[in-house]
Amino acid sequence: MVKAGVVGIVMIIVACIGWSGIPSEASGAAGTKTPESAKGKRIFSRHCAGCHGPEGKGDGYKLLGPDPANLTAPATRKKSDSALLTTIHEGKPNMPSWKGLLSDRDIQSVLAYIRTLPH
Ligand code: HEC
Repeated sequence: MVKAGVVGIVMIIVACIGWSGIPSEASGAAGTKTPESAKGKRIFSRHCAGCHGPEGKGDGYKLLGPDPANLTAPATRKKSDSALLTTIHEGKPNMPSWKGLLSDRDIQSVLAYIRTLPH
């Protein structure tokens, strides 16, 4: 029992540290809208909607090669935050790398917004 209690407390601490940088639905659970996701929405409209479409359905501008991902599809929704953050940071074929253009904070906001997109 004592041991389980300690594990529980450690998990709470880990959760708090994890959330302190990402105070929103970016920590995984699907999305209520927050000031952070509202900021992410503005960034998304400006930088991402051109390819991913205004609602992230991948219906924007298509180049030769891989089509923009439908960010509302189950395949994307079930990926972890860290996997998606890496893609946004590093880019993909046909997807620019954003790490020099957006701050980590902005990238987290945009992910928070993506998590609120209607399915
Ligand atoms: C020039 C077009 C373009 C722009 C602009 C763009 N993307 Fe993408 N994005 C793509 C393409 C194409 C893919 C799919 C790449 C692949 O599957 O190889 C992709 C994939 C992704 C993925 C991965 C989805 C998954 O299921 O793994 C995420 C997340 C993403 N984009 C987010 C963003 C965000 C956030 C922005 C704006 C900051 C953005 N993209 C801007 C073209 C774009």
